[in-house]
Amino acid sequence: MKYTSKQIIDTFLNFFKANGHTQIKNSSIVPENDPTLLFINAGMAPIKKCFTGEEEPVSKRMCNIQTCIRTNDIESVGDRHHLTSFNMLGSWSIGDYFKEGAIKYAFTLLTEGFKIPKEKLYATVFCGDEELGLPADEESIGYWESVGIDPSHIIKLPFEDNFWRMGDGEGPCGPCTEVFYDTGDEHGESYEKSGVFDTKKRYLEIWNAGVFMEYYQNLDKTYSKLKFKSVDTGSGLERLLLTLNGLESVYDTEIFVDIMNYLRENSAKPNERSLRIICEHIRTSVVILNAKVDPSNVKAGYILRRLMRRALRHLRTIDANDDMFIIIAGKTIDNMNNTGLNPDWNFTKEELLDKFKIEQDKFSKMLSQGLKVFNEYILDKSNIVDGYLKEELVFKLYDTFGFPFEITQELAEEANIKVNEAKFNELLEHHKEESRGANLAVFKSGLADHDPNTIKLHTATHLLHATLRKILGNDVHQMGSNITPERLRFDFNFPRKLTDEELREIENMVNDVISQSINVVREEMSPEQAKASGALGLFDNKYGDKVSVYTIGDFSKEICSGPHVANTSELGQFKIKKEESSSAGVRRIKAILV
Ligand code: ALA
Repeated sequence: MKYTSKQIIDTFLNFFKANGHTQIKNSSIVPENDPTLLFINAGMAPIKKCFTGEEEPVSKRMCNIQTCIRTNDIESVGDRHHLTSFNMLGSWSIGDYFKEGAIKYAFTLLTEGFKIPKEKLYATVFCGDEELGLPADEESIGYWESVGIDPSHIIKLPFEDNFWRMGDGEGPCGPCTEVFYDTGDEHGESYEKSGVFDTKKRYLEIWNAGVFMEYYQNLDKTYSKLKFKSVDTGSGLERLLLTLNGLESVYDTEIFVDIMNYLRENSAKPNERSLRIICEHIRTSVVILNAKVDPSNVKAGYILRRLMRRALRHLRTIDANDDMFIIIAGKTIDNMNNTGLNPDWNFTKEELLDKFKIEQDKFSKMLSQGLKVFNEYILDKSNIVDGYLKEELVFKLYDTFGFPFEITQELAEEANIKVNEAKFNELLEHHKEESRGANLAVFKSGLADHDPNTIKLHTATHLLHATLRKILGNDVHQMGSNITPERLRFDFNFPRKLTDEELREIENMVNDVISQSINVVREEMSPEQAKASGALGLFDNKYGDKVSVYTIGDFSKEICSGPHVANTSELGQFKIKKEESSSAGVRRIKAILV
């Protein structure tokens, strides 16, 4: 190999350090004070407040290497270059140089530092969006041309491709310019010939060479100007390893190649996609387990469980020995140490392997239970209609016994029975809709019953939510709510214990609104209108066509299924009984009405 990981990291970081950037420490992949993210998904995530001026950066110029997790790419794993965890090389200018500086640095590092011929490079820029009031990034085109990129290698792309933001929530954002590497004719027609810029096979993105942070995405999807302009860049180390070494895929790099070969040689029915999924998911699982997350059925733990079980399922597909899960995990840990790409270990290798073993055992137990049920089902001929196992049984295996659909499919095939995947997916969708609705109801109201006191406390909860945001800041969001006739219990993200003064201030503000005898008004509108009106809600969840919005003067506005009192004067005196920690970064308030 021409380049090792270490050489690439050193070349990148030394280049930026030589140009006045301070290397900052990387963060744990589980964000410390950011309930909006399950995992760090970009190098900028831990320093996002530096772009708005809320936090002072260590230096105006910074760089580092940060492990990131992006599980929205899970279905793409198995292709040339998508991974659920990767190492992002990043550089930042906070209110220092802007587009011209960033593009010059990117071009110099790629062509001189990594010696990539400029003919191999393509740059994409933002073409603007009239509706959103965002102009095209003509300046970046000019800067790319002035450093020597052929104009035919500069491609204008829309908002979805070239306007970078952390997600749909609020936060700093801006147009970006991405650099793609041409991996050659063997990977498809050239852009010039086909007119299609194929970013899946032939042209691989190697660097988001500049998100030009000059806007703030508001919750209603409008864009305000930030106080100052900054640059955020990020380049995937694994993709640089693949492209700079002229390899076929990331699985041919030093990160995976030996482990892939071992697995291929030690499985009876190897297929490339399964081998890739197994190695990739086990690597991400090591990273997540080391961050002190254990497999579970919620949040980060659920993602981990999904990755581990998907790897276990593919190990069955390639017919590998049962102990291969642990062997590959062990090899992955060794390889991380050998390549220097290990996280700061919180556990010993043995401790981590024990965690793999525990999940493997749970999975096996689930499999043998499900297998028993499956065999019972197929013994009863009335369960088989026109050669198909009844879809509600297929779904029950999945839902009640945790049996992955693919395993039912495999077993059915062996028993010469068919399963209808489309019908299974229909049931699954239906089920998801229902549980989404149920979760939403719990989240929104958390009412145990419709006792008059519960309803009063429900309205008080809305007042408390709005008050917390006014006193502690708009980063505060509801994380959970539970209301009985006796008390309300409200969970919200906040990094520390509240002071006695803050608690008094909160009580006073809620009581002040109560004493103003304000009507509680319910309106129906579309989720879009609700969002635009500034109503609080879970916009990442699917609402129906219409939502109800409860407004209390200009104090509180929330999407909510109710019920509520008609006027705040019905509430009486609001009193906080307790403030305590609920989980990491989440506080809990219990309050009553007297
Ligand atoms: N934050 C930017 C990205 O992740 C650099 O692409």
